[in-house]
Amino acid sequence: MQKRTTNPEEINFKDKFDLKGKVIIITGGMGLIGRAFSEACAQYCANVVIADIESAGAEDHARKLSERSGNEMMGFSFNVGKRDDVQNLKEKVLEKFGKIDGLVNCHQNKTAKFFAKFEEYVDEDWDAVVETNLKGTYLTCQIIGSYMAENGSGSIVNMPSTYSVVAPNQNLYKGTSIGCPAAYSASKGGVMALSQYLSTYWAEKGVRVNQITPHGVWNNHEDQFEKNFANFSPLQRMSYNHEVAGAVIFLLSDASSYVTGDNIRVDGGWTAW
Ligand SMILES: NC(=O)c1ccc[n+]([C@@H]2O[C@H](COP(=O)([O-])OP(=O)(O)OC[C@H]3O[C@@H](n4cnc5c(N)ncnc54)[C@H](O)[C@@H]3O)[C@@H](O)[C@H]2O)c1
Repeated sequence: MQKRTTNPEEINFKDKFDLKGKVIIITGGMGLIGRAFSEACAQYCANVVIADIESAGAEDHARKLSERSGNEMMGFSFNVGKRDDVQNLKEKVLEKFGKIDGLVNCHQNKTAKFFAKFEEYVDEDWDAVVETNLKGTYLTCQIIGSYMAENGSGSIVNMPSTYSVVAPNQNLYKGTSIGCPAAYSASKGGVMALSQYLSTYWAEKGVRVNQITPHGVWNNHEDQFEKNFANFSPLQRMSYNHEVAGAVIFLLSDASSYVTGDNIRVDGGWTAW
């Protein structure tokens, strides 16, 4: 319930960003951006649940984060595309913390032949990308979001892509070993549509559904890619994972209490021109 006042002096604006006492699940929490999100949420005093595939070592990372922050964290190994796994995640988090306040869908699947040409894409790769990226987001939203709706509050943050709304500039990839597969764009377009849908569907239940769109987050990319990127980007450089994290703190915290159906583009202006 928000304070009914027109006097800003009655408000502690710093406290609005605090995540103390909030239980936040981050899927893909061991990834490039997921690790920055987990760290940022921990520094803002949340209880973070780092959920990722078995080989990612989420349990070990969560244990170290608990020790470092002095706050209880949890690691969980699962496959976001499998209903039973997501159901199990929800149950285990409720067993440990008794509630869930935030869900950040930060997973993605890069299959072995992820960058294959469209003409040569095989169904198995298409299905694997769509199952993780889109079905995984649907499952967590349905299973964990429904819990939030029943309890009358919650914040969901989904991660689409600039390629949900604009086509890749194919010149970006010239002279590099990477590209942007259609399966990725298509799955992320679905994530954006699903998020928009749920933002009005659950608004009356007190569940806010928003999105963060990062772009060109640096991860030791090859020099040619970095040069190409700088040429096409208004801010003329790639971004860093920690630069995306401010948006997640805002969207998970009470600072964004009147924000739903939004998409914060942390894209250096890529989609502005
Ligand atoms: N990095 C960027 O520049 C960028 C740009 C736009 C959008 N995004 C989106 O942001 C999100 C995070 O990106 P990132 O760069 O950190 O990705 P990443 O590849 O570094 O991390 C993805 C994480 O998802 C996990 N994962 C894969 N399959 C899974 C499964 N079946 N179940 C559970 N976890 C699974 C991986 O183990 C990994 O830890 C993704 O959704 C991505 O599409 C990233």
